[in-house]
Amino acid sequence: MHSIEFYRNAFLEYLSGKMAPKEPKNLYAPVSYIMGLGGKRLRPVLTLLSTEVFGASYKQALDAALSVEVFHNFSLVHDDIMDGAPLRRGKETVHKKWDVNTGILSGDVMLIQAYQLFENYEAETFRALAELFSTTAIKVCEGQQYDVDFETRDDVTIPEYLKMIEYKTAVLVAAALQMGGIVAKAPRKAQERIFEFGLHLGLAFQIQDDYLDAFGDPLTFGKQVGGDIIENKKTYLYLTAMEQGTEEQKKTLAHLFSIQPADATEKINGVKDVFLETGAAKETQNAIAEHTQKAFNVLAKLQLPPEKHAILQGFGEQLMRRQA
Ligand code: IPE
Ligand code: IPE
Ligand code: MG
Ligand code: MG
Ligand code: MG
Repeated sequence: MHSIEFYRNAFLEYLSGKMAPKEPKNLYAPVSYIMGLGGKRLRPVLTLLSTEVFGASYKQALDAALSVEVFHNFSLVHDDIMDGAPLRRGKETVHKKWDVNTGILSGDVMLIQAYQLFENYEAETFRALAELFSTTAIKVCEGQQYDVDFETRDDVTIPEYLKMIEYKTAVLVAAALQMGGIVAKAPRKAQERIFEFGLHLGLAFQIQDDYLDAFGDPLTFGKQVGGDIIENKKTYLYLTAMEQGTEEQKKTLAHLFSIQPADATEKINGVKDVFLETGAAKETQNAIAEHTQKAFNVLAKLQLPPEKHAILQGFGEQLMRRQA
């Protein structure tokens, strides 16, 4: 096994060899742009890591890892259109830099490229990867639809929210890990366990994403701070504030989520005050720690050699401390 940094660098080197510009430029330039903007590269690193946990070389998993990252970036391009987001990784989003139509079609081609990468595997592995990927991609679409539907609902429950984030975010993190198991031909049971580890990690990850969207540092976050508040997203922060707040605090929050002012500064600050005063901000941090702990409990069941266990646990701990 190598360090997390090693796998990230190996992935980045592989990616840089695949970024040759193609025609038509207006289709492929946004693909190179978003893929080249950086990001944490968590999902491909998980695929490489998991392949080696199950005893094969990460080199066999580079195309699977690239597939996951291309799919992830496709989902971000379309997500930013749906969320009206101006910023991604500290730069203009694709639909702002080009336009919405460009974002739609460049996203489409990335989704197809993600599948195409599986063609580099022999039949059995190809089939297993494609099956997992299709199930996952459909869940991501379902999760994204719930996320949008929830914007205009005021009766969303925490269990509904958890299902939504499991679908839109956690299943892809889980699948990234299972893909390593598929490439390494790990036993079915072990694949299921590593998937479950990823699922809990993914839930913690999305709750953290919600937290940072409100309380992240604009200098390091890379996205528009307060974007979820502008869009009236039913995040863990919002739902907990609605559960724990006084009648007065709930009224304030409901009001702030019913207005769309041209300048959102006051709305954002007002909502963040409620998140802090109700204890929702603190409670959200607790939830992140709880889901990460659940992930570690599942990890323990895999009974990996100490070195492998430590790398995966270290990855989870890093995630919990992230600021972007
Ligand atoms: C953003 O994912 C979308 C979510 C599922 C929260 P990341 O936070 O992994 O984005 P990058 O790739 O590092 O920019
Ligand atoms: C993203 O959720 C989930 C997918 C892209 C599928 P968010 O909308 O919270 O992600 P960010 O915050 O824009 O990265
Ligand atoms: Mg978004
Ligand atoms: Mg979104
Ligand atoms: Mg977000």
